[in-house]
This record gives sequence, structure tokens and C-alpha cells, in this order.
Amino acid sequence: MPTDPFALFDEWFAEARATETNDPEAMALATTDAAGQPSVRMVLLKGHGPDGFIFYTNEQSAKGDQVADNPRAALLFHWKSLRRQVRIEGAVDRVPDAQADAYFASRARDSQLGAWASDQSRPLDTRATFEQRFNQVKQHYEGQDVPRPPHWRGYRVVPERIEFWSDRPHRLHERRLFTLGSSGWSEGLLYP
Ligand SMILES: Cc1cc2nc3c(=O)[nH]c(=O)nc-3n(C[C@H](O)[C@H](O)[C@H](O)COP(=O)(O)O)c2cc1C
Repeated sequence: MPTDPFALFDEWFAEARATETNDPEAMALATTDAAGQPSVRMVLLKGHGPDGFIFYTNEQSAKGDQVADNPRAALLFHWKSLRRQVRIEGAVDRVPDAQADAYFASRARDSQLGAWASDQSRPLDTRATFEQRFNQVKQHYEGQDVPRPPHWRGYRVVPERIEFWSDRPHRLHERRLFTLGSSGWSEGLLYP
């Protein structure tokens, strides 16, 4: 059996794309604040490989503050249609600006405008305030390309540990754990 968690991830991800009702790329992202309080929310996977599992967000959001305080994270995919989960842990690094620019440019224009209009994770008095801000930004960029806001960026979770869990009858599940050591990836099993 080859010890390549990335080939296995690609295989499972392709199957999830074919079978999930929606958002096969949705993953839970767990981070902690300076006091060690964990926090978890969904984000979308926008690229992956040995260099990291990438998501994009506002660096001034709660998660942005948390990865600044503790640049480590855990990711979780749960593909219900396949009865599988993948758990990933590692350090968090920033995606280079040029890569974030390229991805931002590929997004729908309203999503680009929303990135400027949203003070993500900060209190909002009424929905109307947000809509007003959105319209102001829309007017501001009328007839021109929308640049990436400097606070909107990509992060990559660089994996050190990847576990593939598959459902088996009677809770006799299979767990394959890949860990990164000084001589590369090694594979073992865990009791369910
Ligand atoms: C399926 C799904 C995908 C999401 N994808 C993203 C994403 O890629 N980036 C993002 O900033 N927020 C995304 N969100 C919203 C986050 O879950 C969260 O509400 C937001 O980022 C604020 O989180 P924070 O306050 O912990 O920073 C997504 C939500 C769902 C339900």
C-alpha cells in the first residue's frame, strides 16, 4: 500500500464531488484563541496538496485573530453520502499575495464587493447597514475591476497528520492515520 495521503485524499475527494448533495469542499476549521478556547466554523477548500489545504477569509475576522495568536489548526471533512471523515492537523501559513489576487479575481463580482463591504465577525446593527455599505462599494468600483482587499487573504493548513475514517458495520470502523516524520509520511491504523 503506498504511503501517500494526498493520492488517497484526491481519490476520496473525487468520490465526494460525485456523491455529495452540496459543498463537497466544505470543511470545519478549528482554531484556538490566546487563552486556548477552541472555535470551529465551516470554510471552503480552495486548493490542496503537500504544501497545504487552502481556504480564503478576512484576516480581521475571529478566525484571523486566532491564527495570528496561535498559527495551528485542525480541519475536518465529513462526507455524509460516503460515510467518511478526514481529519487534518498542522501549522497555518499565509498564501502568497499573488495567489490570493488570482483567486480573488476569479470570484463572482458580488462576492468581491462583499469582501470589501463585510467587516467579518464584527457586530452589525442592522442588515440595512450592510446593504448600504455593499451599495457604496458597488458604486465606488462601477466600471472597474474590484481589487482584493488587503485584509482578505488565503491561508494554508500545512498537514502533519491526516486521518482517513470510513464507516463499517456495527461501528467496526476503519481508521488510517498518516503522520509526517523526518523521513516523510508513514501510515498506521487506529482502533475505531
Ligand atoms: C458551507 C460553508 C462554507 C463557508 N465558507 C467560508 C469560507 O470559505 N471563508 C469564510 O471566511 N467563511 C466561510 N463560511 C462562513 C464561516 O463559517 C463563518 O461564519 C465566518 O467565516 C466567520 O467566522 P469567524 O467569526 O470564526 O471568523 C462558510 C460557511 C459555510 C456554512
